[in-house]
Amino acid sequence: MADKMLDQNRTPLFDAIMEYNERKPAYFRIPGHRFERGINQRWRDVVGDEIFKFDLTETPYTDDLHNAEGSIKEAQELASEVFHSDQTYFLINGTTCGNQAMVLTAALEGETVAIPRNAHKSALMGLIMSGAKPVYIMPQLHEEWGLHGGIRPEDVERMFEEHPDCRGLMVVSPTYYGICSDIRGIAEVCHKHGAILFVDEAHGAHCYFSDQLPEGGLVQGADMVSQSIHKVTGSLTQSSMLHAKFDRVDRARLEGNLHLVQSTSPNYLLLTSLDMARHDLAMHGEELIANAVELAKYARERINAIPGIRCAGRELIGTAGIANVDETRLVISAADLGVEGFRLEDMLFEDYACEVELSDYKNVLAIITFANVKEDVDRLIAALEDIARRFGRCMKLPEGKPLPPQPTAEITPRKAYFAATETVTWEEAKGRISAEMIAPYPPGIPVIYPGERMSEEVWAFLEEYRARGAHLQGPADPKLNTLRVIK
Ligand SMILES: Cc1ncc(COP(=O)(O)O)c(C=O)c1O
Repeated sequence: MADKMLDQNRTPLFDAIMEYNERKPAYFRIPGHRFERGINQRWRDVVGDEIFKFDLTETPYTDDLHNAEGSIKEAQELASEVFHSDQTYFLINGTTCGNQAMVLTAALEGETVAIPRNAHKSALMGLIMSGAKPVYIMPQLHEEWGLHGGIRPEDVERMFEEHPDCRGLMVVSPTYYGICSDIRGIAEVCHKHGAILFVDEAHGAHCYFSDQLPEGGLVQGADMVSQSIHKVTGSLTQSSMLHAKFDRVDRARLEGNLHLVQSTSPNYLLLTSLDMARHDLAMHGEELIANAVELAKYARERINAIPGIRCAGRELIGTAGIANVDETRLVISAADLGVEGFRLEDMLFEDYACEVELSDYKNVLAIITFANVKEDVDRLIAALEDIARRFGRCMKLPEGKPLPPQPTAEITPRKAYFAATETVTWEEAKGRISAEMIAPYPPGIPVIYPGERMSEEVWAFLEEYRARGAHLQGPADPKLNTLRVIK
């Protein structure tokens, strides 16, 4: 982090682009659309022209993401100060590439890295790229809500006892559902064992701006965190940040890995949106996030007053390894009315035009951000009230099945990825080593990884999703009539 206080009211990349465009240059670079002129007229008629003037490249004013020395460098320094890092990197391939770079930085081919079983599939991509040997840590399970809880420091300590050579640990905190692990405690354990801790904080950038939310991972001792700024604050989809501390992380290695996973044509709309989102957060973050927290509290209280419908909250803290919860995540269940989360999501959209983020067997997840307004929340509450009236006499939902036991890893994800494979029918896949990851989506948590053997239990668990036509990410045949297995 820079040691002097920076002027957070600056927007260096935005200003550089404005200045560049004032020159109105005859343009012979990429992109080919030459400001707005080459953009489809139908699109221009709707969105206007100005935005396309920001879709530039590495001009003399606009710096180079891969070798930042000017406006991008300054924009990253401003973000670094806000998020308390030694260095912040703008990402234009999302936290997906941030996670890949972190895994690649933590462990090379043959080295061991610990990955939580509820990791996003980008962690697997990092494993395939690096060739590292994963040790999976299973988070606790919150039976009542059917959710993954946290990872506890003692789980991590046990992992190091079994794998003293482990180079680094990834933790997802907050999770999609807003569940936080004890990052401070876990960081201590990792550092004691000479390993780095890196946190998938795709859902946590807003936590740095409110003392009513869990503390950010970097503040608690994590060595690297990757954040989808686009998920929780005001930047554009695919724009993320990676924040690093260099006490334990090899800077050159991290930067080399970022070159590997990012486009050589970074999108300046995305980069500018990061500069502007940081500006908003630095100037008004506390107020903006406080509004989101207040709105979420209001929503939770009203939802919990609806008979048969529940919204999880702070009572989860202290159970299932959960050290804290992000209250802006509304985990809503109508299970007591006999309504599955999947069905609740469909109804909310089809019958009430309320779009929630995801559903699982028991719950739907609604995300409140600083940009939501009370009318949004009131619509959701009214919809849930109506659903409660419609289903008031129904039977309680039968208990859902928790995740099946973890399949046995026979070979590393990288070896599986490059091995000779064959395609077999879904029935024939039982007992074979999968060449594919299968992650019911959302939230995209893999039930089986490449290189793992398809046990009867895993097969039966996935069969339920398959039979229901659920969205399964990973397999070449998304309907799962067939599966690629290792020959
Ligand atoms: C936990 C988690 N990590 C990483 C990602 C990937 O983030 P991005 O969409 O910014 O690439 C997601 C996306 O949903 C996620 O939920």
